[in-house]
Amino acid sequence: MISREIVEDILSRTSIEDLISGYVSLKRAGSNLKGLCPFHSEKSPSFTVYPGDNSFYCFGCGVGGNAITFVRQIEHMDYPDAVVYLGKRAGITVVKDAQDSYQGKRIDKARILKMNVDAAKFFHSCLFAKTAAAENALRYFTEARGLSLATIRHFGLGYAPDSFDAFGKHMRSLGYTYDELVEGFLCGKSERGTYYDAFRNRVMFPIIDVSGNVIAFGGRVMDDSKPKYKNSSDTPVFKKLRNLFALNYARHTCAEAMILCEGYMDVIALHAAGFTNAVATLGTALTSEQARLMSRYTKRVIITYDADEAGQKAAVRAMGMLGEVGLEVSVLKIPDAKDPDEFIKKFGKDKFRSLIENSRSKFEYNMERILSKYNVEFPQEKINALADLVELISTFYSEVERDVYIQAVSKQLGVPFDGVKNDVNRRVKQKAKRFVKEENQKAIRASQGFSDKVNPDYAKAPSVAKNEESVIGLLVLFENHRKKVFDGGLLSEEDFFTELNRRIFVYLRECYQSGTAPNLDENFSPEEVGRITKMKIARMNLTENGDAVLEEAIASLKSSMQKKNAEGASTMDALASLIDRMRKTTDN
Ligand code: GTP
Ligand code: MN
Repeated sequence: MISREIVEDILSRTSIEDLISGYVSLKRAGSNLKGLCPFHSEKSPSFTVYPGDNSFYCFGCGVGGNAITFVRQIEHMDYPDAVVYLGKRAGITVVKDAQDSYQGKRIDKARILKMNVDAAKFFHSCLFAKTAAAENALRYFTEARGLSLATIRHFGLGYAPDSFDAFGKHMRSLGYTYDELVEGFLCGKSERGTYYDAFRNRVMFPIIDVSGNVIAFGGRVMDDSKPKYKNSSDTPVFKKLRNLFALNYARHTCAEAMILCEGYMDVIALHAAGFTNAVATLGTALTSEQARLMSRYTKRVIITYDADEAGQKAAVRAMGMLGEVGLEVSVLKIPDAKDPDEFIKKFGKDKFRSLIENSRSKFEYNMERILSKYNVEFPQEKINALADLVELISTFYSEVERDVYIQAVSKQLGVPFDGVKNDVNRRVKQKAKRFVKEENQKAIRASQGFSDKVNPDYAKAPSVAKNEESVIGLLVLFENHRKKVFDGGLLSEEDFFTELNRRIFVYLRECYQSGTAPNLDENFSPEEVGRITKMKIARMNLTENGDAVLEEAIASLKSSMQKKNAEGASTMDALASLIDRMRKTTDN
């Protein structure tokens, strides 16, 4: 068992918002956040994150709980693995000691940051060593990639020697241990227990956050071998999904617009050409967290992803995420080159500047994509194109905006404005209708309570179960209610009709009496934790009349149990007399 202390430490250092943002695109809704549930398919968001309570709940499918529950579900991990996983994320290594209990070992962030700076210095100096390998690496940057020495210095680029231990030896001479180097993903440990340098014979890109810390490294091969890039994994100081390459520089010049590219080399080429507002994700698709991060620095983003189909697909996706956080977005499709780096090399920076000036809005970009799919000379194809365009326009919320685009489509395809407008309106209404219907069905399903696998007793006595849920919800939420119920002995397990709620009640009482915070995930299935979360969040706002609700619920639980006992007794009586009579008849 992992000690409660460690679990609480890990939970207190885990922001549920950060964690879930790595998987779900979340939008702010008051003090909470909402997104599309990753556990069931839905069109309108019912998945809610409560940062103030460090919990989440989906009103559509009933999953819910804290960070541990989320990891258990999304990563399909059992409870201890989920804790270890979150520990790693929070900079706490959970290790088993000789007595088979777990210890939390805290990693010193400042130490890792210092280690990364020393590593960056080492890699950078290796680029200028007087060896054939170093000269080869330097030539890769200057000749193959066309970078100036000034640019190489500006980005602190480097070279990791072709050796299994040159780096490790150097770092150890500076006082770092192999454990620390492994923790920072700079060294690896083989199955035989020997250590080796993680980056070998690669040119190195240090990744620097907005505070100027070296938080990670990317390393590229200098030929066509695979994998092309090797990037540090997440460490206590590095969260891939939360940082952007070169934002430390771009932040100074990006107030009006920011350029988002796919690769480190694109960013470096753009900065070298004077576009110092360029950033890139760190080898992953754009996350909503990165989108939010960008929205703190700029109001407009120009996406310039690779020209291939994969790049364009990623661009469409990024466009949606950036739009969601309120950023104005346009997409720049690179003609006659595979990416911005190659484009600038081939055609120069002025050509790139005019591309930027002509970059298209979300609507224009998508319209072009649709029109390129069809040959609108043919009536049927024109109708199909029109249908796609109507669908596209119906995704915009503002009617004024829709009218502008309807105008553009009617001009482009030579069809009357009113006709297109009618189609768009019909589509918008259809969508609204479907939304309402889905919401209603959800409500009906929730109220029927049938096929309740989590609490199978629920349907036998819904109103009793509801009262139990009120009590449990309030007990989980409020200390004063726990005091009242447990110290005052106002309820006992006999007062509970459903087995699940009885079990929860007993557990909460144990926790209260031993003075420990409940750790639901250690004792309940994720589905059960989801149910408890539901009981809780439905009563979150009951701070003022919580007392009255609690008293009412307790009173009716008591009386329904009495009634039930009385019923039970009379049934037994009836049975007994029946048996008695039967016996008498057979006796005769
Ligand atoms: P080059 O121009 O070929 O040097 O690369 P690039 O920077 O243009 O990268 P590319 O467009 O091929 O890929 C975009 C980004 O994805 C890179 O900057 C890396 O962060 C990441 N990436 C590319 N290939 C790999 C790989 O093999 N492994 C990993 N982990 N990441 C990669
Ligand atoms: Mn490239």
